[in-house]
Amino acid sequence: MDGQMQAAPVLVLLGPPGAGKGTQARVLEERFGLIQLSTGDLLRAAVREGTQAGQAAKAVMEAGGLVSDDIVLSILDDRLAQPDVTRGIILDGFPRTGAQAEALDGLLARRGMAVGAAIALTVDDGSMVERISGRHTCAGCGEGYHDNFKPTAAPGICDACGGTELTRRADDTAETVAARLQAYHAETAPLIDHFESRGVLLRVDAMRSIADVSMALAAIVRALKP
Ligand code: AP5
Repeated sequence: MDGQMQAAPVLVLLGPPGAGKGTQARVLEERFGLIQLSTGDLLRAAVREGTQAGQAAKAVMEAGGLVSDDIVLSILDDRLAQPDVTRGIILDGFPRTGAQAEALDGLLARRGMAVGAAIALTVDDGSMVERISGRHTCAGCGEGYHDNFKPTAAPGICDACGGTELTRRADDTAETVAARLQAYHAETAPLIDHFESRGVLLRVDAMRSIADVSMALAAIVRALKP
């Protein structure tokens, strides 16, 4: 950890599928001890566990649509009840609709927290299919890789934990990515204006290398005041 902060910061990472939200959230988690809260990861866990929420979400996720606000808010509320969130959080993939953005204020206020920065990762949509189709993830520790942009040091072996089960997501097909991009532009991109009007929006050019984007984000986190 190279950062010490006095209060629990709350960061929101906004960006279309493939923008690098998950990749960068993991870097910030590692560097600053913040907690990555990915609603996509929480929903995938619910699908794996076969919970009622997971069963309702599965088909919607496979089609590239947005899971209902009720389900997402309930899953996030449960996660926010865990004590580690007092270290500060990075919201990865949440909020995604106007209703979620409104609800977020209440969820955070109940815990004495508020959004410190909403960071829009700006990218060219056309490059996102390549990013997503090359993505694979370690089933053991969740570390993410890319066939070309972030390969494992040794083929088929996770650099972080040595695991050998590298998986691709069921919704990472070209057709589903098109639906996910459409959902992003229809429902989530308008939140950029929402956070701008709150005075917490920052834009980061995420077409740069993973390391360069990480540097830009780390500077933002360091500048966040309690
Ligand atoms: P979610 O899991 O949130 O997926 P997403 O938003 O589509 O985003 P991705 O995880 O695909 O991309 P990312 O931006 O994290 O990119 P990554 O860092 O992996 O959601 C999945 C589904 O769950 C949704 O479709 C929806 O159905 C449901 N859902 C989730 N949250 C919801 C909500 N709040 N409301 C309703 N429904 C919800 O990077 C991608 C690849 O590119 C990686 O291989 C990486 O190594 C590489 N890469 C990253 N950065 C760079 C770079 N700078 N240069 C080159 N390569 C890079």
